[in-house]
Amino acid sequence: MQVTLNPQSFFYSQKRQLKNNTEQAFTSNVMRLSNGQAPHFTYFFRGDFQWKAFVKYLERHFANADKVNIYNGACSDGTEPFTLVMAIAQNLKSKIAEKFFPIKAFDLNADLVNTAKTGKIPLLPQPYTCTDLLKLKIKNRFREGNFLSYVNEQGKGKFVQFNQKTRDKIDFKQANVFTQISEMNGENSAVLLRNMWMYLEDYEQEILALRLGNKLKKGSVVVLGEYDLIASKAVEALTKNGFKGTYIDKVYEKMV
Ligand SMILES: C[S@@+](CC[C@H](N)C(=O)[O-])C[C@H]1O[C@@H](n2cnc3c(N)ncnc32)[C@H](O)[C@@H]1O
Repeated sequence: MQVTLNPQSFFYSQKRQLKNNTEQAFTSNVMRLSNGQAPHFTYFFRGDFQWKAFVKYLERHFANADKVNIYNGACSDGTEPFTLVMAIAQNLKSKIAEKFFPIKAFDLNADLVNTAKTGKIPLLPQPYTCTDLLKLKIKNRFREGNFLSYVNEQGKGKFVQFNQKTRDKIDFKQANVFTQISEMNGENSAVLLRNMWMYLEDYEQEILALRLGNKLKKGSVVVLGEYDLIASKAVEALTKNGFKGTYIDKVYEKMV
C-alpha cells in the first residue's frame, strides 16, 4: 500500500529541492511537477467532510444572496465537484440549488481536467492510503441507488458516467490556483481548496491565504481538507488573513 499524501511524498520532496523565492519560479515549479505527477487521490463523498451539513450551511449562510459562486479548486478528476452537485441537488430545493450552479471547478493537471470534462469518472483511482481505504464508500452508495438519477452508466464498479444534466452544472478548466484567484469577482463565494495546501511551500501557502483574504468578499468561505489540517499551515495562514472557523468543521469564513 503506497502512502503519498503527506510532506514525505515524492512530489513534495522533489518540489522542495526547487527552492526559489520568486513567485514566477514557484508557479512554474508547481506547473512542471504537477504535469501528470501530482498525487490526485480523491473519492466520492470523501469521508473527511460533512457534505450534507455543508450544503445546509451554504443555504443558511447565503440565504439573502441571489447568486453564490462555488469555486472547486484542485478538483482532480471531477470527483469532488460531482459530489458537491449531488449533495446540493439532494439536500436543497431546486430553486435554491440553482444559485450555486454552475460550479467553477479547476485543477492544475490538464489530464485530470480532460477526464472530468468527459463526465466519465473512475471510481477507484490509485494510490490509496490505509485511512482513506477505510473510508471508501462510494461503491456501496451507488449500489444503494442513491445517486442513480445522476449517472447514465455504471462501469462495473470501475467508473460512473454522469448524465448531461449533471455535467451542465459544472464548468471545468485547467488552471493554477494562484492565477484563478485573481479572476474571482469578489462576489459571495465558497472556495473549496481541499487536500492541496500540503503540496505548497510554506511561503506559497502564505501567499495563497493573503490573496484569498484580499480577493474574497466578507462572508465568503474557504473549505479545507483533512490533509491540509494535518500537513500544512493553511489554518494559521487563513487566520492571519481574516478568516475564522465556523460551526462546520474545515469551513472558514472571511470576517472582515
Ligand atoms: C489530493 S488531490 C485533491 C482532490 C480533491 N480536492 C479532494 O480533496 O479529494 C490534489 C489535487 O491538487 C491539484 N493541485 C496541486 N497544486 C495545484 C495548484 N497550484 N493549482 C490547482 N490545483 C493544484 C493536483 O493536480 C491534484 O489534482
